[in-house]
Amino acid sequence: MEGTVLRVNSVSKRFGGLVALDNVSLEVGRSTITLLIGPNGSGKTTLINVVGGVLKPDTGAIYYEDKDITYMSPAERFRLGIVRTFQTPQLFSSLSVLENVLIPSKYFLEENVLDIVLSNRWVTKDREQVQRALEILSLLRLDHLWDAPASSLSGGQMKLLELGRILMSEPRVVLLDEPLAGVNPALAREIMKRLREIRDELGVTFLIVEHRLDLASSYADYVYAMHRGSVISRGTPDVVLKDPLVLEAYIGSSR
Ligand SMILES: Nc1ncnc2c1ncn2[C@@H]1O[C@H](COP(=O)(O)OP(=O)(O)OP(=O)(O)O)[C@@H](O)[C@H]1O
Ligand SMILES: [Mg+2]
Repeated sequence: MEGTVLRVNSVSKRFGGLVALDNVSLEVGRSTITLLIGPNGSGKTTLINVVGGVLKPDTGAIYYEDKDITYMSPAERFRLGIVRTFQTPQLFSSLSVLENVLIPSKYFLEENVLDIVLSNRWVTKDREQVQRALEILSLLRLDHLWDAPASSLSGGQMKLLELGRILMSEPRVVLLDEPLAGVNPALAREIMKRLREIRDELGVTFLIVEHRLDLASSYADYVYAMHRGSVISRGTPDVVLKDPLVLEAYIGSSR
């Protein structure tokens, strides 16, 4: 693939006797929205965990910009610009919505955001950070909740807030594990559109686990379908979504 930014090379991962990833290879093109689909338990989250560095593969390697990152910690990957969300959002529940988004801008960890905003101490950069955070919250329809504790949000809103926080970190590669689960369809479409703009304007690459195939067909550049730890189909959305192997995997798993 031209301009490959991320390469997964023959990765396998077992949990005891269960083969969660079975010799998986894939490439993610630079500045694409690449989707990972597949029935429950097919290995999607495990793959995101291996790429994000939470899990080490048993065999195989991960390359970012041709650099072997297989044994780098999640923090080292974060510094390279590889960021991820979790299937269950990881938020600071007692901090406000705005503070949760501002966390990647380290300055604000030290103090209460409101104190900074109300004082004369903030310089232009800080104002820009808050401005950007509010823009991200507005995109995610969370701006009216900026001062609410994260713990008070609904499940869908928590997923959006976690997405907001990683957008704030100026990422290069974004790994999203079902970011739109629990988000209403109209807002989900708007967010996918905005991710496309971020892809085009900033050249960010997205690897997204998504169950909703309608979103896949409308917004993805490329799709990988997994089943029982293996990649069973790859290609543009129209090709993969019409692949009999993919349909069979979904139907088989719903029985
Ligand atoms: N930490 C673990 N210990 C043991 N088994 C695990 C672990 N994590 C995942 N598995 C197993 O590995 C397989 C793949 O799981 P994974 O979470 O990657 O699937 P998934 O495609 O993300 O599914 P879903 O769509 O339900 O989120 C499953 O059979 C799961 O039970
Ligand atoms: Mg999963």
